[in-house]
Amino acid sequence: MTATLDEQELQGRFEDVIAADQRIEPRDWMPEAYRRTLVRQIAQHAHSEIIGMQPEGNWILRAPSLRRKAILLAKVQDEAGHGMYLYAAAETLGVDRAELTDKLVTGKQKYSSIFNYPALSYADVGVIGWLVDGAAICNQVPLCRCSYGPYARAMIRICKEESFHQRQGYELLLAMVNGTDAQREMVQESTNRFWWPSLMMFGPPDADSPNTSQSMAWGIKRHTNDELRQRFVDMTVPQAEALGITLPDPGLAWNEERGHYDFSEPDWTELQAVISGSGPCNAQRIAHRKRAHDEGEWVREAAAAYARKQESRR
Ligand code: 3HC
Repeated sequence: MTATLDEQELQGRFEDVIAADQRIEPRDWMPEAYRRTLVRQIAQHAHSEIIGMQPEGNWILRAPSLRRKAILLAKVQDEAGHGMYLYAAAETLGVDRAELTDKLVTGKQKYSSIFNYPALSYADVGVIGWLVDGAAICNQVPLCRCSYGPYARAMIRICKEESFHQRQGYELLLAMVNGTDAQREMVQESTNRFWWPSLMMFGPPDADSPNTSQSMAWGIKRHTNDELRQRFVDMTVPQAEALGITLPDPGLAWNEERGHYDFSEPDWTELQAVISGSGPCNAQRIAHRKRAHDEGEWVREAAAAYARKQESRR
């Protein structure tokens, strides 16, 4: 079906805004495919933030000091807030967070593979902050320049809080590696478990990424999966050296010619398996999310009743 003149003009204006590196706002005309891609990415990002509360949430009651408990509580609460900002950004595209949550718990939408790995020791709290939030920062800072206004603005606040998340994790690990041999071994063991899943957070290799080229053309993604993965490796290797921790990749080596670290290929079959539901914790994470959502029904009903009452008073 040929586009009407109006649509051609609207498409042209959209393309001019993208080409000028300006922002598309909710009231602007946008191609349906652009809207759909944004809903997909922002919703899955929001789901990741909410599911991501589970691994660390399990350690709040077992934190070794009041200070550590307060820091971890603040971080987990931040993740809930990140989810709320992102669901709010998604809702500017005409979807509803209840509908998105239903798609999450029924497996119709994804969340980041990294949260399907268990947090087995207290060192995981530090390594999740250091590696997972560190990877999130690499991936999220460019999103502050996303062409869709509400997403970019949500990311600016989220990235400020992510840097606290990464720093508190690294500081926790500094305390542990300067502690006993057993604590140092805990940090090494945790790093061995989380290193490769952290590299997989950036998505499949560019050659296997069906969304990257279009998302780059629309200014949604500013870098490819492989570019951001490389940036994360280059940033993290010196940090591991400062901790005295060995990253579990014998292929890791500085390449003077490239000006980057060479590293081995992650196991992409593992990423695909975890994405399709066969990770260590997939069923547990979704069951927990569904239970929390069901148990929160009365809160949503009470808030809606209160809003109706306020409305009727106007
Ligand atoms: N886990 C789950 N699914 C993944 C994935 C991963 N690590 N990597 C890729 N995928 C999925 C994609 O969603 C896509 O599936 P879909 O088309 O059904 O959505 C498919 O695999 C192919 O991947 P692409 O690279 O083509 O997809 P994208 O262009 O969307 O790139 C992405 C994937 C890099 C994750 C991108 O969506 C993105 O940058 N999202 C925003 C950031 C985000 O969601 N980060 C997740 C972690 S949030 C977090 O870390 C919170 C912090 O507080 C700890």
